[in-house]
Amino acid sequence: QKAENQILIIFGASGDLTKRKLIPALFELYKQNLLPDKFAVLGASRSTLSDDEFRKRADEFLPNNEKLDEFKKKLFYQAVQNNSAEDFKPLKSRLKEITESLGIEKNYIFYLSTPPSLYGIIPKFLTDNGLSTSNKYFRRLIVEKPFGTTLESAKELNIQLLNYFSENQIYRIDHYLGKETVQNMLVTRFSNGIFEPLWNRRYIDRIEITSAESLGVEGRGGYYDHSGALRDMLQNHLLQVVGFVAMEAPVVVEANAIRNEILKVFQSFRPIQENEVSRYVIRGQYTESKIGGQQVVGYRDEPGVDRFSRTETFVALKFFIDNWRWAGVPFYIRTGKKLPTRVTEIVIHFKNVPHNLFGTSSFEHSNNQLIIRIQPDEGILLKFGMKTPGAGFKAQTVNMDFHYSDLADTNVPAAYERLLLDCMQGDATLYARGDAVEAAWKFVQPILTAWETNPEIPIYGYPAGTWGPEDSDKLILHGQWRYPCKNLTNDGLYC
Ligand code: BG6
Repeated sequence: QKAENQILIIFGASGDLTKRKLIPALFELYKQNLLPDKFAVLGASRSTLSDDEFRKRADEFLPNNEKLDEFKKKLFYQAVQNNSAEDFKPLKSRLKEITESLGIEKNYIFYLSTPPSLYGIIPKFLTDNGLSTSNKYFRRLIVEKPFGTTLESAKELNIQLLNYFSENQIYRIDHYLGKETVQNMLVTRFSNGIFEPLWNRRYIDRIEITSAESLGVEGRGGYYDHSGALRDMLQNHLLQVVGFVAMEAPVVVEANAIRNEILKVFQSFRPIQENEVSRYVIRGQYTESKIGGQQVVGYRDEPGVDRFSRTETFVALKFFIDNWRWAGVPFYIRTGKKLPTRVTEIVIHFKNVPHNLFGTSSFEHSNNQLIIRIQPDEGILLKFGMKTPGAGFKAQTVNMDFHYSDLADTNVPAAYERLLLDCMQGDATLYARGDAVEAAWKFVQPILTAWETNPEIPIYGYPAGTWGPEDSDKLILHGQWRYPCKNLTNDGLYC
């Protein structure tokens, strides 16, 4: 069922995210006839642009298609300054004009894709102009990342937003939750009888999550140098993934039921104390190197990055979830830039059989793994031991391998498509709730504080194009990270 007629107002419309992700996602939804019957996008930012200029800019990022011209008619633009509530008057009149001329109901989604310093201000000016609530129409607010840069600033932002919008109007975006395979975690776990009985401390030895990127900071050095891998990827995206892996079954598939379960996981994280940080967390920074014969600059030589920067481009973490299901099961997460490949995977390592019947080598092969490939080549892989044909009882590891691409005609929607559509329909299931965001920050904060206050905690260099500092291997006492792996496939990277 299509969402109600509405207008999406994007603040920060001349920015990169709007061009690269939001407008293309909306066009995709339009092509699939998923947008509301009457719908418009009103781009807003400080630059002065006409509707036509805004449409032309959108063009650059949209594929040529017969529906393109029709879609572009839905795009409008209004210059808005952010100095006072007065500055929002032209926006208000423009909205009135669009709703009246196109006959669209006054349902509005306000999307904050601006620098975070405006996250508290824009909602205030919207409220001052009577735009944040209505008795008749819905008013929603999407807030882009980063949601705070510390526990304190995240709490402060929640307080500010809640002055003007209520929690059920606020949609904190985390694009990892829009990824099909992250959502599939729920279906894999809770629609099958075979996995869930094993999904606990009795049968699982450890859980490993790797999110590797081959790209570096790609011109975002100025932002990244104040962020680092822990804030940029782990506090939000990867902890949300942990939420889906570790949560209890929700009572129903509904926003609050699911988000309650995620919150409980975050509340059960065993805190890493400041004095334990070097034991449980390894940070690294890529250094210059040669990749495929090409010289690659180190992080400190990237534009916008401090020459003496101690910002991490890699982080690996070991932690525990202190609850009945997960007591004693280590979770390992690592993420980094300029690693050998782009891959995000969850690996569930099951315990070995209790008694080794078929000799040492087969014992190794009984180390069952369920691998959920989030990207690229989304899919699920189960590894288990089978008898090698012929004499004796020699075992070898075989794979049961499912790829989403095997489902003919199935288009895996981009994360932003799914999330925008959900917000249009008023479904916040795949958006982070305020309390969970704070709980995730609470876990991460002592690590940041320790790094900032204790210069003795090392930051290891790793040559660009390698799997991060060697010390991250030492986090896993027995076993090893799945990559780099012993049995390489053709491209030499995937196990
Ligand atoms: C963003 C980070 O949130 O996620 C980027 O700011 C990172 O630094 C990106 O590259 C990764 O997203 P994806 O979807 O490419 O895995």
